[in-house]
Amino acid sequence: MNAVSLPRLSEAVYTPLGSEVYRGLTARPRTLSPWLFYDQEGSRLFEEITTLDEYYLTRTERTIFEANADAIIAAASAPTPHGIERDLTIIELGAGTATKTGLLLRAAIRRQEAVTYHAIDVSESALDEAQQHLTAAIPGITFEPRVGDYTEGLGVIPPDGTRRLVLYIGSSLGNFEPEEARRLLLGVRNQLAPGDMLLLGVDMVKDISTLVAAYDDASGVTAAFNRNVLTRINRELGADFDLMKFRHKVRWNGAHSRIEMHLESLLAHDISIPSLDLSLAFRRGETIHTENSYKFTTEGVQHLLTQTGFTVVDRWTDPQRWFGVFLARVH
Ligand code: AVI
Repeated sequence: MNAVSLPRLSEAVYTPLGSEVYRGLTARPRTLSPWLFYDQEGSRLFEEITTLDEYYLTRTERTIFEANADAIIAAASAPTPHGIERDLTIIELGAGTATKTGLLLRAAIRRQEAVTYHAIDVSESALDEAQQHLTAAIPGITFEPRVGDYTEGLGVIPPDGTRRLVLYIGSSLGNFEPEEARRLLLGVRNQLAPGDMLLLGVDMVKDISTLVAAYDDASGVTAAFNRNVLTRINRELGADFDLMKFRHKVRWNGAHSRIEMHLESLLAHDISIPSLDLSLAFRRGETIHTENSYKFTTEGVQHLLTQTGFTVVDRWTDPQRWFGVFLARVH
């Protein structure tokens, strides 16, 4: 029998970026996973988004921490059905430059004088920045950076008699599909002990025009953030996307309680990605779905946390109830 000669796939298709782009752009509807946004320029654009008037999420969560950091730390340290009051070790998932976390770390220092802070993030440069500004501003913190993907675990945190408080703030949970979000929280829960705590910050459902404006700002920073994924694919995989042929499109999907971001092709045209041996024919109006950002209700968060082994012990919000911070204990 003659040997069947298979086409030789280039190495690029086996890299995380190449395999995701291949899978997503050959799927129908076409999709790209939101982690692709965060190259150097994408991370810079996201930082800029967090300062925009329309993007209320970051500043609203910050005002909640400003008003309640001492109460949050006291509630996290309080006696539990499993034990006595305890000092905290703080672990942050996706810490980034940790700009809001300082408010909680300062409150922990006020209560217990010294605190160990484990910051997990894929970006080494973001963790360096966090370490510099936090250790200079907050005497008493021991900063333990870990470069890595928190969806793969918390890493080794030696037991020292303190209670763990895991921070998962910034509504990062909202960029995962519901089933992935459940898996992620279960994974966190399984690495903790009864009595340990989770502080979850999520964006709440609100009027549609406020939600849409937050993802379609007047100065076009979010549009540039969305389109930057195509620049990344051009640079790293040799594709020939023309950014001017795609429009940033945002819509509220009420059935799934999420904001969706898409890139819509303005005309029928072909794209080639030589390193993936791929050529794609886009129709006019065809979209690439690049992000979901889920918005939550209090009942939804309570249900999600209960399902994944936590009990909500307290919650804080802003006067407009736009953002929610939930403290939950492992049961
Ligand atoms: C990182 N994440 C919580 C942001 C969000 O709001 O879903 C990402 C983002 N996408 C567009 N603007 C901000």
